[in-house]
Amino acid sequence: MHMCGIMGYVGPKQAAEVLLGGLKRLEYRGYDSAGIALEDEGSIYLRRKAGALRVLEEVLAESPPPPSHIGIGHTRWATHGGVSDRNAHPHTDCKGENAIVHNGIIENADELRAELLNAGHVLRSETDSELVAHLLETGPADLRVRLSEVARRCEGAYALLVMDVHQPDRLVAVRRTSPIAIGATENEAYVASGAIALAPWLSECIYLDDGEIADIRPGKIEVFRLEDLEPIAKTLHPIEGDGELPDAGEHGTFYRKELMEQPIAWRRVMAGRLDDVGQVNLRDDGIDQEFLRSVERIVFLAMGSSLHACQMAVERLAEVVHLPAQAELASEFRDTRTFLEPGTLAIAVSQSGETIDTLAALRHARDLGAKVLSLVNAPASTIARESDYVLDLRAGFEISVASTKAFTTQVIALELLTAALAQARACPLPPTDLHALRAVPTVAEDFLAAFHLPKELIETCAQAPGVIFLGRGQDLSLAREGSLKLKELSYVWSEAFAAGELKHGPLALVDQRVPVIVCVTDPRHAVKLRSSLAEATARGAYGVAVGSKLGATLQVTLPLKERIGAYLLGALPLQLLAVEVAEARGCPIDQPRNLAKSVTVE
Ligand code: F6R
Repeated sequence: MHMCGIMGYVGPKQAAEVLLGGLKRLEYRGYDSAGIALEDEGSIYLRRKAGALRVLEEVLAESPPPPSHIGIGHTRWATHGGVSDRNAHPHTDCKGENAIVHNGIIENADELRAELLNAGHVLRSETDSELVAHLLETGPADLRVRLSEVARRCEGAYALLVMDVHQPDRLVAVRRTSPIAIGATENEAYVASGAIALAPWLSECIYLDDGEIADIRPGKIEVFRLEDLEPIAKTLHPIEGDGELPDAGEHGTFYRKELMEQPIAWRRVMAGRLDDVGQVNLRDDGIDQEFLRSVERIVFLAMGSSLHACQMAVERLAEVVHLPAQAELASEFRDTRTFLEPGTLAIAVSQSGETIDTLAALRHARDLGAKVLSLVNAPASTIARESDYVLDLRAGFEISVASTKAFTTQVIALELLTAALAQARACPLPPTDLHALRAVPTVAEDFLAAFHLPKELIETCAQAPGVIFLGRGQDLSLAREGSLKLKELSYVWSEAFAAGELKHGPLALVDQRVPVIVCVTDPRHAVKLRSSLAEATARGAYGVAVGSKLGATLQVTLPLKERIGAYLLGALPLQLLAVEVAEARGCPIDQPRNLAKSVTVE
């Protein structure tokens, strides 16, 4: 159904309060409706509302829910069936005895729906999720056994959390691809689709892996293999954060806060990995010299901004380490029939560590025989758990749906990896590059404090039918990132092109209303990019150059010239442009329409 929040509770507290508290912590991921189900003296109390969680809270404040010690809650991001109260979760069966919440998509829903309708069930929503509640109406009395039978019949990727009013001391959860975290205290238990939702009450939790089903009772969590219900021992993982919800403070939005705090995140990702004499050491991350020397080829797997960071790394690896590398869109790679040569290292890059396409591509690479290294901002995430090596991005919790600090810390982590590969193979980076890397946080702080984009550019972009970004080499990935940020935040149509392509078609789009933004943080391409810009400005375009001087209408000069330093600094004006155009157009900043933070649906 959607990729958003699941929350469940059983224990002495008032379940409704815990559910709303947990759902609130998952809100940042983006959703369009919310609901809760509670056990109420042998029947199910259900409240669901389209819109923000606030709308549901208002309804509950007006007519308070019954006291209850068990319940499930949900924030939905619609896929099957429009945004409506009726399609919001939880869903119940015909008799109102089972309630379910679901993340993911049930791929054989049409077949299951036909079967249920044939058997006389009355379906009240357009969702695939509701089918699960009806399938639970028949079968063994024991909820765990019954859900295991239903889950085995559902194809696709999902996480399900269910309750049965006749068994009011337990919740049952099952996972196939979509994440589930579970934790307990002595006399209660909590379940959520992300550990962040559990942080106010717990300091550690377990994560279900694919094909596992959990029986959740106060103080007791048991996990079994879905296949044969054999018990499985699980490892407890610490939950990060102190339970306090982060606050955007003076920045007003998390996007701006995270953008401005990038220098802090950059220092963190380098700490202990890059020393004062320019030596890179990833031994504490379990990455040793022998491993670094054994890599013969690299395949990067990622989506969105994370893919752009990989595209930058491909340029750097080719230049510095002479190592063949390719960056693959994970959603495409997962279905290819390609083969991977021996010695290939697959590197999965993902802020959330839960992106389903990246996870599926990682599994595909593994099946093809590759070792997997992942770069994630969530070291206990599924992608990290399924990798041979993990580099933690340490960017800190990223709340804004549009990525800023995770993207730039990915660029730095990949540069550190490039440097480590270079040093292990005796083909060191130019020392100035590492110097620039060390200097970049401080330089960026000064840059951000002084930098302003002219109003004229913001207004031109806000009214433009489209904005074109251009680059070559490493700057093509930066152009793509700038374009993605702008379209996500401001909904202004925009596209990035390799500058060489311009004359082969895209130039037809250019007139005086279409700004053309040229990324030129690698000065070797300045001459050619100057010509591309001139071709656009000759047709009336508002030209912007970020990096080397190109004779643009607006020149953004960057205070570091080394390629990695300039690239990181070059990302900042592009991130600022996106938010300022979005603000000028009155768009919501932290949760752009139709988008979600962690994309766990294919
Ligand atoms: C863009 C953005 C997305 C993500 C993409 C991958 O601002 O945030 O494009 O980069 O959905 O997400 P992760 O990195 O979590 O795998």
